[in-house]
Amino acid sequence: MKERNPTGESPEKKAAGIAAADLVKDGMVVGLGTGSTTAYTIAELGRRVDEGLDIIAVVTSYQSEMLAIRAGITLTSLAEHPELDIAIDGADQVDADLNTIKGGGAAHTREKVVSCSAKRFVIVADESKISEQLNHYVPLEVLPYARELVMGKVRKLGGDPVLRLASRKDGPVISDNGNFIIDASFGVIANPLEMSGTLSQLTGIVEHGIFTNVDEVYIGRKDAPVQIMSK
Ligand code: A5P
Repeated sequence: MKERNPTGESPEKKAAGIAAADLVKDGMVVGLGTGSTTAYTIAELGRRVDEGLDIIAVVTSYQSEMLAIRAGITLTSLAEHPELDIAIDGADQVDADLNTIKGGGAAHTREKVVSCSAKRFVIVADESKISEQLNHYVPLEVLPYARELVMGKVRKLGGDPVLRLASRKDGPVISDNGNFIIDASFGVIANPLEMSGTLSQLTGIVEHGIFTNVDEVYIGRKDAPVQIMSK
């Protein structure tokens, strides 16, 4: 069980999120990820903008859009700024080679577009997300019409697909793009690059949550300085 303080804050996520904000400099166009760790980065960037930091940002979800607006960060779009200086985002799991699984917040499609638009892609996470090998379920954003097709294909690959339900369990989670999410467990993923390619080829999958383009990981640790893993 992960320890949390009474306010629901995670000191480890906070430390990682704030440390990565140091990478953002005047004049940069920044990709803002989604999730509770990136929320600390967004809040910290907002604080620095108040102090004069001059940046514009592209968001990866309605959640990060609302946080960025609240933090006073000027937003732009990929249409206006197709090349980002840096993208900072959270993770569900990161392996020793920095292969990463994302999509716990159903935002991985836009997160992947933003990360692939960035010159530098940085993950912020607490130490619970680090694993020698990937064995977390892989979120798949799927066209609602294709969900049974995708479930069948995942089973043929040896996976166990589960349609992600909303918290009240009376309907599916709907992504910001209007699609469903299937969480596919494959056990240990021995070759993440190969699995990424295989899933990319399945008709009906809009995007999967395996990221092989991470440059650095900022890891918040209990009672220890933030650790940086890089390629
Ligand atoms: C959003 O879809 C995800 O990729 C998140 O970035 C990921 O789940 C990390 O979330 P936390 O920072 O809340 O752990």
